[in-house]
Amino acid sequence: MIIGIECTAHTFGVGIVHKGKILANIRDMFMTESGGIVPIKAAEHHKLAAESVWNKALEQAGIEERDIEYIALANAPGLAPCLLAGLHFAREKAVKLGVKIVLVNHCIAHLEIGQSLGAKDPVLLYASGANTQILAYESGKYRVFGETLDIGIGNLLDKVARYAGLGFPGGPKLEKEAVRGRYIELPYSIKGMDAAFSGLATKAQQLLDAGKTLKDVAFSIQETAFAMLVEASERALAHTGKKELVLGGGVACNARLQEMCKIMCKERKARFYCPEKPLLVDNGAMIAYTGEVILRGAGKEILLNPENIDIKPRERTDEVDVSWR
Ligand code: ATP
Ligand code: FE2
Repeated sequence: MIIGIECTAHTFGVGIVHKGKILANIRDMFMTESGGIVPIKAAEHHKLAAESVWNKALEQAGIEERDIEYIALANAPGLAPCLLAGLHFAREKAVKLGVKIVLVNHCIAHLEIGQSLGAKDPVLLYASGANTQILAYESGKYRVFGETLDIGIGNLLDKVARYAGLGFPGGPKLEKEAVRGRYIELPYSIKGMDAAFSGLATKAQQLLDAGKTLKDVAFSIQETAFAMLVEASERALAHTGKKELVLGGGVACNARLQEMCKIMCKERKARFYCPEKPLLVDNGAMIAYTGEVILRGAGKEILLNPENIDIKPRERTDEVDVSWR
């Protein structure tokens, strides 16, 4: 029985997994009416939410604290104050319960949960707030085939939404706006396998200043930015000869991005996989699930005593030794 704690940015989440089965997945997200995330405020939110999210997860799974055998903690990458809030909470619980901890990289958890749907050796399009990468497993690591050269795609959407006076998170709000929008041409900036989004953000802001409607701007940003990601993903499939695409990360909730990926996969006879929303956005279940996958593959030597854990706010996906695979 493994319990996972997510706390790397805006969400405090606790999930419980047993033999690959998700028994609980409870989340409490720091949101704003206007403006973005202030790391210290998000960390305060996590400290306040932690105990009740933990208890609700136990209740949902129908287990007692003493049934827990391991704790999985997302210790990287993310906002340092948020990571520390999670670390302190995990440490306190581990000491109380007398259990050890397995550390999980948040980005890798988005990837592993995507592969829980049955993909064997996929290309992964990881599209979230701070991160945007096209990855595939090769010789012991998740290698980066392409990535954003500046901001993550979710940050692009959040930035434009914030400029338009909408709060955080902005992606879902722009998606609703985009439904009735019409296309305005925007800078399409892809260099090799890498994409850049900040020019798009600036142009979108200029269009709003010039009186273009939010629905047209939202539609056009989605069409342009998603096309860039789908183009690079298709090229990664072609280069690697792989036949599966897994979509993950919070922006993967977007129905239009899913649709574009599906069309591309159908055209080149690749299989497409995308988890359900509660597993796409930041959540504790993906951390617990990945913790269990790591333990199963790498063995118990990977476990740490609570006093020996630390945070790694800047750890990159391709720095992690995927020793469990
Ligand atoms: P990272 O994994 O890079 O650390 P993150 O932790 O910020 O990212 P996720 O929950 O994985 O968070 O993704 C959050 C992002 O997903 C936000 O930028 C949010 O606007 C975006 N998002 C959520 N739902 C949608 C949607 N329906 N359409 C577009 N974007 C969305
Ligand atoms: Fe995330």
